[in-house]
Amino acid sequence: MHQDRAFSPYDGADAPAVVDLWNRTLGEHYPLREELLRQNLDRNPNFRPTDAVTVRGGGRLLGFGVLGRYRGDDPLCRGWLNRAWLAAVVVEPAVQRQGIGAYIYGRLVAHADGISPSTVVPGGGTHRFFPGAPSDLPAAQPFLESLGFRFGGKVHDVRADLASFRLPAKSQRLVGARALEVRPCSEHEVGNLLNFLACEFGCGWWYHADRFFRAGGAAADWLLLARGGEVLGMARLHHPGQAIIGAPRFWRHGPGAGGLGPIGIAKSWRGLGLGLALLHHTLAGLRDRGVTDAVADWTDLPAFYAKAGFASWKQYAVAVR
Ligand SMILES: CC(C)(COP(=O)(O)OP(=O)(O)OC[C@H]1O[C@@H](n2cnc3c(N)ncnc32)[C@H](O)[C@@H]1OP(=O)(O)O)[C@@H](O)C(=O)NCCC(=O)NCCS
Repeated sequence: MHQDRAFSPYDGADAPAVVDLWNRTLGEHYPLREELLRQNLDRNPNFRPTDAVTVRGGGRLLGFGVLGRYRGDDPLCRGWLNRAWLAAVVVEPAVQRQGIGAYIYGRLVAHADGISPSTVVPGGGTHRFFPGAPSDLPAAQPFLESLGFRFGGKVHDVRADLASFRLPAKSQRLVGARALEVRPCSEHEVGNLLNFLACEFGCGWWYHADRFFRAGGAAADWLLLARGGEVLGMARLHHPGQAIIGAPRFWRHGPGAGGLGPIGIAKSWRGLGLGLALLHHTLAGLRDRGVTDAVADWTDLPAFYAKAGFASWKQYAVAVR
């Protein structure tokens, strides 16, 4: 079946052809920019060319797949060393259902040191495209199930039109009444913010924030809910002025396209309405930066976001072990 097919590790020179294949296959729902592909592969410090595979036949690219790995030495993220994330498998529509997708997966796992199918997760990881199996790609879940993955819950990307958003007075009062404030993080507070993320939310959010700052991201693109110098909550803003493409901006690139995430409140301060108040302040911050179309990615709390005018935009099935 595969005699006329050539399977090779990814090479940076493949990027335009991969983008073309991707956009022909799933671009209607997930239009890929070369910049995002290169951010997740070529400029990803965890990435090695054998983590991805390209398939050629008849002189053109027919398939592509990538298995994300973590290759850092951060003590907090040690648990990721023996994990892998199946970030994407894409097969040219004209040659689907010929076993190419399954072969790509088998080859990626076979070339991954220390990884067995039981330690692979579909979606997620340090440089993801999706949090799970996208429900608007009908082949995704059955294909992944055929590889042995089982699915349980669902997560959402939620979206809101901010064109007429105004910060509710109630949210302003709630923050002020407790002598708290919501303000941009300053450069000298980045360490505090990272500590807060590590202590309250663990390695995932910490890792992505650390990577953001190492890549030259601005402290002011994070809002802090603070009492004096003490961090009680945070939210990351995504807007078109940023070089780093965060997940809320993966699939939209108009002038007003942005979003938020992660957003969170310290455990001991939850249940007081401060989460919604911080979300409202975050939306005001996005408006100030020209964002009119906001996405919050990868949430299992669509009802929380609905209180601020968001509706579910994309859904992803998440795997269970
Ligand atoms: C999903 C995708 C990669 C599958 O590639 P493929 O080469 O057609 O898959 P295979 O031929 O290896 O299929 C293996 C098995 O997966 C299942 N499967 C694949 N596509 C399916 C579909 N459209 N409907 C139902 N089951 C499907 C079947 O069990 C299949 O075995 P079978 O053909 O013997 O019944 C391809 O459809 C694609 O590129 N889709 C768009 C992108 C996408 O959804 N990617 C997945 C998540 S990132």
